[in-house]
Formats: sequence, structure tokens, C-alpha cells
Amino acid sequence: MKVTVFGIGYVGLVQAAVLAEVGHDVLCVDVDARKVENLKKGIIPIYEPGLTPLVQQNYEAGRLQFTTDAEQGVAHGVMQFIAVGTPPDEDGSADLKYVTAVARTIAQHMTDRKVVIDKSTVPVGTADKVRSVMAETLKQRGAEIAFDVVSNPEFLKEGAAVADCMRPERIVIGTDNPEAIEPIRELYEPFNRNHDRMILMDVRSAELTKYAANCMLATKISFMNEIANLAEILGADIEKVRQGIGSDSRIGYHFIYPGCGYGGSCFPKDVQALIRTSEQIGYQPKLLQAVEHVNYQQKYKLTQFIKREFGDNLKGKTFALWGLSFKPNTDDMREASSRVLMETLWEAGAQVQAFDPEAMDETQRIYGHRDSLKLMGTKEAALQGADALVICTEWQNFRAPDFDVIKASLKQPVIFDGRNLFDPERLAKRGFTYYAIGRGASVQVHD
Ligand code: UDX
Repeated sequence: MKVTVFGIGYVGLVQAAVLAEVGHDVLCVDVDARKVENLKKGIIPIYEPGLTPLVQQNYEAGRLQFTTDAEQGVAHGVMQFIAVGTPPDEDGSADLKYVTAVARTIAQHMTDRKVVIDKSTVPVGTADKVRSVMAETLKQRGAEIAFDVVSNPEFLKEGAAVADCMRPERIVIGTDNPEAIEPIRELYEPFNRNHDRMILMDVRSAELTKYAANCMLATKISFMNEIANLAEILGADIEKVRQGIGSDSRIGYHFIYPGCGYGGSCFPKDVQALIRTSEQIGYQPKLLQAVEHVNYQQKYKLTQFIKREFGDNLKGKTFALWGLSFKPNTDDMREASSRVLMETLWEAGAQVQAFDPEAMDETQRIYGHRDSLKLMGTKEAALQGADALVICTEWQNFRAPDFDVIKASLKQPVIFDGRNLFDPERLAKRGFTYYAIGRGASVQVHD
């Protein structure tokens, strides 16, 4: 099938590459000429395991192409994906200007029936907006061409995007026109074998499904962080509590890991956007507000521990920081907990020596060159001469470090662990002061 994808961000590029991989003829359109040129040379704008060879192979096979020419894009696909960004407005609601611009472009240039698929995470009611923008544009042209608008939210996780997209747990399709279902079935047929993963519903339910999924997951994390904070004060160990509750199959083990807060491009943005949507229709979403608030506070947790250990004035202190990206296997720094940590440490006068396996360039891009930040080539180099070690991201190779090297490199054997990677008792035996999240029984409790 001929497919056009507008927007070569995370969602658009991965979706396009995966559709090409199963044999569809995919053309990607983006306004960023440099991005398009780079992709043609095999240079991928993001770090995502497995994506580079997938893009290169399908580009070489001619099934995946890139252009800045929107008119060509509209002419190409029967299916027109909208996968452009929906950045948060100043008040946290999703800004739809890029989505509506694509809708207008499609309507300006289309000459035959199109199925327009909203893939970006968009507020409930966006498909209606896309439909009316297109209808208005067609009317201005004096053209009478039929089209469908379908909501098809994406559930991929960064770091596992290709695998998630190749083997989706569900394919949610929202449409108010049953005729649009058949072409969508054909498009997704290769991903829908063995058992039917397609969940059909009306457009608004599909749009809300995406927000509900992300807000549910964010709620689980904030809930666990709240219980972790209680555990810390009560002298309980959240890791034991986590295992205790996760064993209940109704709760399950997934997404109940406490830590120094969730980040990324989705959870913070989507929780805020659903709060704004609720408020705009006169509903106070108290639970969502609490989820957001708990996460905001949780990002300050490690700095609070550091100040408990070293005092409020951190002038002259240097902290080794392992992990900058918002989670492992990505170079994405959006809403990363490490940013709040670094910024609060700098405010208190401290310096940071950081290491991350993938996100150093991105960190440099965001913070530039500054005396208070040194980016080090290895995790061991980051430790050299630092007062203590702080961990913000659970990259696999941070899990079993050489503790003798850590001890010999740091001025004091103190570790602040925002991802609960180590066994507190073992660290205590080795002579470390170990702060982790919600492990009150094993680490220093409140003063
Ligand atoms: C998320 C959703 O999982 C995905 O379905 C949606 O399409 C986009 O948003 P992503 O942002 O890539 O994906 O990251 P995810 O793996 O879900 O992690 C989000 C954040 O939550 C990370 O900062 C992670 O460290 C944190 N997290 C996750 C926890 O703190 N505890 C957990 O138990 C799980």
C-alpha cells in the first residue's frame, strides 16, 4: 500500500520504517530539510536500538523515501499519517498548530480519496478539528473529494520503539465511518496475524485511550513514589513492599518501580494535557493533579538527600553523576530527572562530573560549555575526585560497578541512588553511606 507519513519524529520515523519493512511503499515528509538530507545518507536524528539498519535497508530497497515536498507527499499515499509534534502550550495544553497545518496541506493538494490517520497524541476532539479544517479547505478550493479521519494512537516506548511497533500489543482504531476500517485492516494486516490485536471504537474513545494509558502508567509510578516516601519515614523498605504488592496478579510487577521521578516526552506532557482538557470542560481532575505534583516533588528527592548529607551550601563540592537520559537506551533528555538534579546542585554552588552512555551530546547541546559541568568519557572518570556519586538513570552497566574503584575515587564513600540499583546491606558492609528511594529500614532515616 502507498503510505505517506507527515513528521519524521520518533513516532513518525519508527512507524514509517516498520511499515516499509513489511513491504508498504512509504514516503516521509518533513519541513526540516537537513533532517531529510541526513536520512537519505543514513544519518538518523535519534538514538533508538535497531532503527538505523531498518531505515537504511528500507531506504536502499526503495520502500522508504524522504522529502520536504508536501505536495508530493499528498499525491503519494492513500493513507496519510499525521505524526507531527504536539508540544505543550504555555498552560500545558497540547498545541495543535502543526497537526492542523498538515490537515490543511492534505486538503489543499488531494485529488482523490484519502484516509487521514492521526498518529500524534492529540486531545479528544482533534480528529473533529482535522475533519473541519480539511472540509473548509476543500470548500475554498471548490473541490468535492471524500476523505476519512481516523484516530490511531501510538503506544511505543522509547528504547524499545522498533520492537513495540513490529509487535504491537494492540492496534487502537477510532473511526466514525465503518468504511474506513477495511483499508486500515489491510495496512496493519502484517502486524495482526495469529490473533486480532485491532480494537475498534469511535474516534473520541480512541483519542482518550492514549491519554488514559499514559496517565494510568504515570499514576502507578507516582503512587509508588508516594508509598516509597512513606516507607522512608516509617522505616520500611519499598523494594520489599513492591514485591509484596506486585505478586498480586491484579496489581502486577510492571511499572511499580519507585525512583527519582518519571520523565520523557510523554508522561509529563500527557498528564498535563489531560489536566488542562479536564479544566477546560469544568472538571477538576484531582487524581491527575496529585500524580503530577508527586512527580514534581520526587525530582527534588536526590538533592534533598544530598543536602541532608552535605548541608545546604554545596560550594566547593563536586558530584559524580551517572545517567543523564530520562531512562536507559535513549539519548532523550526531555523532562529527565537528571536536569532537575544538576540545576539544583548548581544553584547550591556545586559542580557536576557526568557520564551517560548516549546522552552526553544532548546534554552539551542543552547546557553548553560551563565550568560547573564536566562531561567525562567513562563512568570511572566521572568519579575521580568527586565528593559523592549520584545515579539518575538505570543503564545496565551501572548495576554491577567495581565498588572498590568507586570508594578509591570518591572523597567520601557516599552514593545517592535514584533508581534503587544496589543492595543497601551489602553497601553498608563495604563502608558506603547509601541513600536510595524509600529504603528507610536500611538507610539513614530523617534527622
Ligand atoms: C511512555 C509509554 O510507556 C508509552 O506507551 C507511550 O507511547 C509513550 O510514553 P516512554 O516515555 O518511552 O513511553 O517511557 P517509559 O518506559 O514508559 O518510562 C517513562 C518514565 O517512567 C521514565 O522516566 C522511567 O524511568 C519512569 N518509570 C517507569 C519509573 O519511574 N518507574 C517505573 O516503574 C516505570
